[in-house]
Amino acid sequence: MANVIVVGAQFGDEGKAKVTDLLARNADIVVRYQGGANAGHTVVANGETYKFHLIPSGIIYTGKICILGPGMVIDPKSFIAEIEALKERGLEDANLKISSAAHVTMPYHLAIDAAEEDSRGDQKIGTTKRGIGPTYADKCARSGIRMEDLLDREVLKAKLDWMVPRKNVLLERIYNLPPLNAEEILNEYYELGQKIKKYVTDTAALIFEAVGDRKNILFEGAQGTLLDLDHGTYPYVTSSSPAAGGACTGTGVGPTSVDRVIGVMKAYVTRVGEGPFPTELTDSFGQKIREVGAEVGTTTGRPRRCGWFDAVIGRYAVRINGLDCLAITKLDVLDGFEELQVCTHYRDRVTGETFTDMPTIGSRYKQMEPVYTTLKGWLKPTTDCKKFADLPEQAKAYLNFIAKELDIPIAIVSVGPNRDNTVVIEDPIHGPKRVLSKPTTAV
Ligand code: IMP
Repeated sequence: MANVIVVGAQFGDEGKAKVTDLLARNADIVVRYQGGANAGHTVVANGETYKFHLIPSGIIYTGKICILGPGMVIDPKSFIAEIEALKERGLEDANLKISSAAHVTMPYHLAIDAAEEDSRGDQKIGTTKRGIGPTYADKCARSGIRMEDLLDREVLKAKLDWMVPRKNVLLERIYNLPPLNAEEILNEYYELGQKIKKYVTDTAALIFEAVGDRKNILFEGAQGTLLDLDHGTYPYVTSSSPAAGGACTGTGVGPTSVDRVIGVMKAYVTRVGEGPFPTELTDSFGQKIREVGAEVGTTTGRPRRCGWFDAVIGRYAVRINGLDCLAITKLDVLDGFEELQVCTHYRDRVTGETFTDMPTIGSRYKQMEPVYTTLKGWLKPTTDCKKFADLPEQAKAYLNFIAKELDIPIAIVSVGPNRDNTVVIEDPIHGPKRVLSKPTTAV
């Protein structure tokens, strides 16, 4: 194989776990590089449905090393609940590793995430309330607690004795919430650390050795490019770096060791939480996509906002991640539509300007209205298609249209939840390296 990054190329929930699962078969190591328990990855394998939040989905395969990298934020309670549930279902944790440098989501992070969100009113972000933003904020402020700190009672005590009174000022005075007790947290989290200790190690060194041994490493992204802290629709983003560059900073692997970047996009677009979404459908089409695609958040159970495929964000994701090829998921969800719309560019509602690439993200993005090309639907089931040739003509035309608009080959198409509901058009790993062309900004 090679060292491959699988990255979400829309607003998260693109079906990355199915693609990672397909590629994990030939990987030696599967590593998550960012995010935390905000993620929800679903894999259907051997007739069973598995839902992952923190643990890389590669754990389904016996013998693969699965790593939670230093770029992640880990809620120890969620981690233990998840691993125990997976072990009950027969999966093994012998090769599971956690970076000693990964940050720990503490009770005050959870409390502050919820309180902050509630206080924002109509400026809310729609976070998953898993403490992600506050944990990363403390990491950046150099006040965070890392996995290694959980294992050393003295270090943990010193950090909590300094931190908890400060967090209590915020909780009590700003949010009118009860204070937390540093000693109780110390006792509880030191105990959790003892349970997790066996997994904690220097994962960057482990990966470095594996790179030297020519092992195959799969970097599993969570969330999506448009939720990236730097490159997404700020402030409606998560607090980590889901884009491909995050795989290097979030694991300690140099960019020269990465061979391929595969972008995962749904055949349409969904978004959970607040933030601009130009192709959103608030009508019966959106409702139909939500129902047929079972578009409900894995982590929070919130209904996902649904809309037509957006080539503008697609092109942007190709550029920001340096994608080599695409995996298009959930094509089968569109089987019952007579007509489909694809947004090829935006028009600025205020100035009338047109954009084929992302305009300055932020306030201006809210002004964008989609300009669509209508394509014929195929009105035939695609779930049993095994090769590109098996797909209905209009489905092929739909995929070809997307590939042309984004100027990138589609290597994989997913036509159902199971492993065998997959059409492999070309080898996603060993295809030619793409030379990225400059995007056009005007129509
Ligand atoms: P946070 O990551 O919980 O801080 O949430 C920030 C934004 O990212 C919110 O709009 C969430 O709905 C969104 N988000 C976080 N994780 C995921 C995910 O795994 N899939 C899709 N959206 C997510």
